Amino acid sequence: MATEPYETHEYDVIVIGAGGAGLRAAIEASAKGVRTAVICKSLLGKAHTVMAEGGMAAAMGNVWPEDNWKVHFRDTMRGGKMLNNWRMAQIHAQESPDRVLELEEWGALFDRTKDGLILQRDFGGHRYARLAHVGDRTGLEMIRTLQQHAVHKGIDVYMECNVQRLLKDGDKIAGAFGYWRETGAFILFRAKAVVLATGGVGKSWKVTSNSWECTGDGITLATDAGAELIDMEMVQFHPTGMVWPPSVRGILVTEGVRGDGGTLKNSSGERFMFKYIPEFFKAETADNEKEADAWYEDKKNNRRTPDLLPRDEVARAINSEIKAGRGTPHGGVFLDIASRRPADYIQKRLPSMYHQFKELADVDITKEPMEIGPTCHYIMGGVRVDADTTATAVKGLFAAGEVAAGLHGANRLGGNSLSDLVVFGRRAGLHAAEYAQALPSQPVVDAGEVERVMHNLLKPFENTGGENPYAIHADLQETMQSLVGLIRVEPELKEALDKLAELRKRLDNVSVLGGRQYNPGWHMALDLHNMLTVSLACTVGAIARKESRGGHTRDDYPTTDPHFAKVNLVMRQENGEMRLREEPLPEMPDELKQLFEEGH
Ligand code: FUM
Repeated sequence: MATEPYETHEYDVIVIGAGGAGLRAAIEASAKGVRTAVICKSLLGKAHTVMAEGGMAAAMGNVWPEDNWKVHFRDTMRGGKMLNNWRMAQIHAQESPDRVLELEEWGALFDRTKDGLILQRDFGGHRYARLAHVGDRTGLEMIRTLQQHAVHKGIDVYMECNVQRLLKDGDKIAGAFGYWRETGAFILFRAKAVVLATGGVGKSWKVTSNSWECTGDGITLATDAGAELIDMEMVQFHPTGMVWPPSVRGILVTEGVRGDGGTLKNSSGERFMFKYIPEFFKAETADNEKEADAWYEDKKNNRRTPDLLPRDEVARAINSEIKAGRGTPHGGVFLDIASRRPADYIQKRLPSMYHQFKELADVDITKEPMEIGPTCHYIMGGVRVDADTTATAVKGLFAAGEVAAGLHGANRLGGNSLSDLVVFGRRAGLHAAEYAQALPSQPVVDAGEVERVMHNLLKPFENTGGENPYAIHADLQETMQSLVGLIRVEPELKEALDKLAELRKRLDNVSVLGGRQYNPGWHMALDLHNMLTVSLACTVGAIARKESRGGHTRDDYPTTDPHFAKVNLVMRQENGEMRLREEPLPEMPDELKQLFEEGH
């Protein structure tokens, strides 16, 4: 077997991913005094977190003094169709305000109320205006702040470095192996603990708001190492992505547009969301234009506009309008803020949206409506973790942020992602550091295992005349978009399974040309293992969940099934196959159950 020298580094804790969760985890681990490094696939400061626009949900009560963690907890659980891990939802709601204040202390410049408090904006499914924000560039400010803090702590950072495999010593983590994107040279990290903070999976779908990094790396690293996954079928299609021109299809149009006054209209100018208010949200949702308009102008009115229902409801409604032939010329619907708000307000509140549409689509959103449609945005499923510690089933392996599952249940509320990153990022860093401190010695890395991994990674160079990785990727995206998209049915899901098996065979025969120095074809060939793994897990889960709930809509099982309300679909890889079983959700304590009964 071919072998070659590789550089080796030794740490207590390595964090894979430098978005909000990864940076926050690294800051915490380093503050505990352990040797810490961050490894990231792109340049520091370019993580996908920067694309999170509208804000960070936290019940601070700055705009609505009535708000508190209990209401936030209840909204999160209801938005997630009660499939959430209640303990994660509780921790998240309780700790988010402190994490916002901490960011402010570290230099984040949030928008302010007239009284100088941190301003909070409306988003779908949140009872009160709750999102702390920086215009429509909140993720960017979060990363700027965390990055500056991390750099000043002296944390080692390995940029443009791809981790390909986690290594174990018996049943516990021993490190990770990967390569430098620039040179193609291999690199080994010996580590007592690993925190996965690699984000999402959107690049398996054709229309997505996700950037190139979102290829399911952490979920695959975890399942390849023996960790469990849950609820992988739960994928969120954000209702508002750009639809035109084709080159920008899928790019996010922040929910903040609707939070700040934008309404959805079909090709006849009808505000169609009034037709799609589900029973579950009827009591709190305005069912006519007059009442919705009154809410926009005076938010003391209790019944909110249906444009701000949770994302799964809005995405399905848009899809129905388009299918019924009431869509726009380019296959979306209209999002109109120009007829409600003056130009200077729009430019001040939504500067990125203004520039995005002006520069990419030649649309002036202060004068014209936007054309938008659903775009694959987020996965609620992922690595199964312990709610308090973020520990996975593999000793020494922790996960936080989008890669981890449980908090959001079947559907994530907008703004709960940025707060998730810092709440659970902090906990992951803390518990990984404590685990590493308690371990008496550095686990042993098996050199033979490293050689086998190296050999596998180089295989695409040895396959001559094989498949082009970009062709496989295009076919994967087509398969997931058309067969495992927003609306699903059994025959199509089964067809997807067959296609994924074919694509896996084609991947075995993938070949790349040229050398190892910055070779994007090789990187794509390696990323395809991850994208195929998460696509398979999503499809297997989607077949098993014979109901509709949140991000998973089955046309052949259009209602929720009480049986599936009580179980997580748990997956583990065995002999290269995804084995699925149902496990009861953790039981919520009575004092929290009461929050739903009393209508807090
Ligand atoms: O619409 C948005 O600004 C996205 C935010 C989120 O996904 O939390």
